[in-house]
Amino acid sequence: MKIREKSCKIGYINPRPLSGRTGGHRMVEVKVCVGSSCHMKGSYQVLKTFQELIAKNDLKDEVALKASFCMGRCLEGISVMVDDTPVQNVGFQNAQDVFYKEIYPKVKAGGSAQ
Ligand code: FES
Repeated sequence: MKIREKSCKIGYINPRPLSGRTGGHRMVEVKVCVGSSCHMKGSYQVLKTFQELIAKNDLKDEVALKASFCMGRCLEGISVMVDDTPVQNVGFQNAQDVFYKEIYPKVKAGGSAQ
């Protein structure tokens, strides 16, 4: 299957989930920026932590984890979006806390928790 990239004003978004399935029920979409600024701050470690926690909690069918290029918020922490809502102050040190505060509750609420 060919991966398509969609260009936008702020960069490129890879629509292919790193985990989870795309069909069926509603999934919580988590995007982690892997642009150069976020990469330097440790975004790959955040992705790795999220992947491990998704596997540990058996949520691969509930969370669509995606890598994204620059989201235009380079001066903040590592840019993370959960269902198009930006999550503030993300770093590789607090990735586990962010997962359990921002992602896990939405998954358990069926993707509709705010
Ligand atoms: S590089 Fe991540 S928001 Fe710009």
